[in-house]
Amino acid sequence: MTPTEVRQKYLKFYEARGHAVIPSSPLVPQNDPTTLFTGSGMQPLVPYLLGKNHPAGARICDSQKCFRSGDIEEVGDNRHTTFFEMLGNWSLGDYFKQEQLPWFFEFLVDEVGLDPKNLYVTVFLGDEKNNVPKDTESAELWQKLFAGKGIDAKVAEIGSEEDGYIKGIKEGERIFYYDAKKNWWSRAGTPDKMPAGEPGGPDSEVFYDFGTPHDTKFGEHCHPNCDCGRFLEIGNSVFMQYIKQDDGTFALLPKQNVDFGGGLERIVMAATNSPDIITSNHAPIIEYLEKASGKSYKDDVRSFRIIADHMKAAVFLIADGVKPGAADQGYFVRRLIRRSVRYADKLGIAEAGFAQVVQPVVDMYKDQYPELVEKIQEIEASISGEEEKFRKTLARGKKELERFTGNGSVSAQDAFQLVTTFGFPLELIIEEAGERGIKQIDIEGFKELLKKHQDLSRSGSEQKFKGGLADTEEKTVRLHTAHHLLLKALQIVLGPEVHQRGSNITQERLRIDFNYGAKMTDEQKKEVERIVNEKINEDITVVRTEMSKDEAERLGAEHEFGAKYPDMVSVYSVGPVDNAFSIEFCGGPHVGHTGELATGGKHFKIQKEEAVAQGVRRIKAVLE
Ligand code: ALA
Repeated sequence: MTPTEVRQKYLKFYEARGHAVIPSSPLVPQNDPTTLFTGSGMQPLVPYLLGKNHPAGARICDSQKCFRSGDIEEVGDNRHTTFFEMLGNWSLGDYFKQEQLPWFFEFLVDEVGLDPKNLYVTVFLGDEKNNVPKDTESAELWQKLFAGKGIDAKVAEIGSEEDGYIKGIKEGERIFYYDAKKNWWSRAGTPDKMPAGEPGGPDSEVFYDFGTPHDTKFGEHCHPNCDCGRFLEIGNSVFMQYIKQDDGTFALLPKQNVDFGGGLERIVMAATNSPDIITSNHAPIIEYLEKASGKSYKDDVRSFRIIADHMKAAVFLIADGVKPGAADQGYFVRRLIRRSVRYADKLGIAEAGFAQVVQPVVDMYKDQYPELVEKIQEIEASISGEEEKFRKTLARGKKELERFTGNGSVSAQDAFQLVTTFGFPLELIIEEAGERGIKQIDIEGFKELLKKHQDLSRSGSEQKFKGGLADTEEKTVRLHTAHHLLLKALQIVLGPEVHQRGSNITQERLRIDFNYGAKMTDEQKKEVERIVNEKINEDITVVRTEMSKDEAERLGAEHEFGAKYPDMVSVYSVGPVDNAFSIEFCGGPHVGHTGELATGGKHFKIQKEEAVAQGVRRIKAVLE
C-alpha cells in the first residue's frame, strides 16, 4: 500500500461518515502568529476548536502537510521525518468518543487491513490536580472493540516515567493508562505547560507492534510508549474538551471536540509491516539516489534517510513560498538543503545533479498537490542556488584549512576557528586533513576549547539573566533594546552564524561579544549602524511573549550559546512574534517602541570594534 492509497481510503471513509473533506493548508500558517510552520492538522482549525463555526460544518477531515523543524536531529532513525502528512478528522461539538474510537479501529482493521493483534492502545490516567478524570470510558470502548475481533484485551496502569515503567507488559494486556506526560495533548504539551487560552484534552493513542526485539538501551521493559522502535504510534484521538484559564485552572470548552491526527507515512509502515518510514514512503527518491550515487540504500542507511526526508521537506516548503535564507522559515530550508548536500557528498553524488532529486518527489505527489508541478523550475533553481552558495562556504573553509595544515597538523585553536567562524564541520576537518595525509588533529584540545567557551558563555548568560543590565534606568533600557537590534543587524551583515557570546549594558553604552573571525570593515560597521537606525526610525512595537521553550526554539528565537533555559521562557520580539525583525529569549526590560531610542534626536553609533578572544569580537556602541 502506498501513501496515495492510504490517503484516498481515509478521506473516503470519513466522507462516507458525514465529513467535509477540506484541502491541506500551506506549511506556513496564514493567520497564526504563534508558530513558523504548520506542525499538526489541528493548527489551522484552532479558532473552530475554540468555538467558532466552521463554514464546512461540524465534521471535517483532511490530509495536512506538516513540518516539524524540532525533529531534524531525529531523522535517520526508522520513524522520524521533518515533513509528513497528518490525516485528520474533527468533530466540532458533534460526535465524541463513542463514534471516534470505533471508526478509527474500523478504518485500521477493515480498510487498511491491519491485524488487530498488532494493535495496542493507551488512554488517560486522569489528573487530580487539574480535576480531569480518568478516561475509563475510552478503556471500556477499546475493550469492546477488541472483543468484537475475538481478542480479550486486558487493561493495565503502566506506571510512571520516573519509575521506569517497571511493570512492562503482562500477558494479555493491550490497553494502558498513562499520565498527562503521554496521554494529554495540547500544542504546548502537558496541562502545566499550557498558557492561558490554550485548548487541550486527554487523548487515546493507537500503536502498531512490529514485534521487533526490545532494545534495553531504552529501558528494562518494553511498552507502547517505549522508544526502542518495536511500537509505533499511528494515530491519536484527542478529546479536546478543556481550555486553560487565566487563573491556571481548566474550564470546559463551549463544545466537546474530537481532534484526531494520524501520521499517514506511519500508517503506511503498519500497512506494509515495514519498520522503516523511508523505504515505505520515499521509494522513488531512494531509487534516484541509488542510481545517482551507484551505492545501495543498505550501504549507508542514515545518509539516504536524511537526504530523502530533507529534500522532500525542502520541495514542499519552497512550493509553499519559503526560499532558503538566513532568517525565519528560510533558515530551515537552508539547513535542510545544506545538510542534504553534505550527505550527498558522502554518497558521492555529483554536485551538478543535486537538484534532480526534486523530480522524483514531485512525481510522487503531483496528483494530490498539483502546485508542485507548476513550481518545479522554481524549486530546482532555489535548491541549485543554495547548493552553490554552500559549496562556496565549504570551499572557503577548505582554503582556510589549507592554510592551517601547512605545518602538518591541525591545532585545537585552528579547528576551533574553522568550526565557530567558518561554519566548517568538525567531521569535514578530520576528513579533509586525512586526505592531505595529516593525522595529527588535536580533537581533545578542540573539545576542551569548545567546552571552555561554552562555560564562559554560560556564566555570561547567567549574568545576563540576573539582569545583565547595570540597572533599569531608562537609558540602560533603551540601550538594551538597541542591543537586540544590533545583534540582528550583525547577523544580516556578517552572516547568520553570528551569535552573542556575552553582554554588558550600562547607562552610557552597550557592549556585545559575538563570534566572528575577522575584523569588521568600515563598510560593514556603517551598514550595521544604518540598519539599526532604520529600525529605530520605523518605530516598531517591542513585544514580550511567554511561551514554551520548544515554541521559542521553533520560532527561531535567538539564545545564548550553551545557555540552559527553563520550560517556559520569556521572549522579546521587535515586531509581531511571527514577523519579527529580531526575536530573542530575554527577561527584559525593554522599551515599548523602537522610536523611543531616538529620544532627544539620538542615533545609534558603534564606538569600537575589537577582538577579545580567538574568534570572538566585541562592539561598544552608544545612542548619541
Ligand atoms: N493534534 C493531535 C496531534 O497532533 C492529534 O497529535
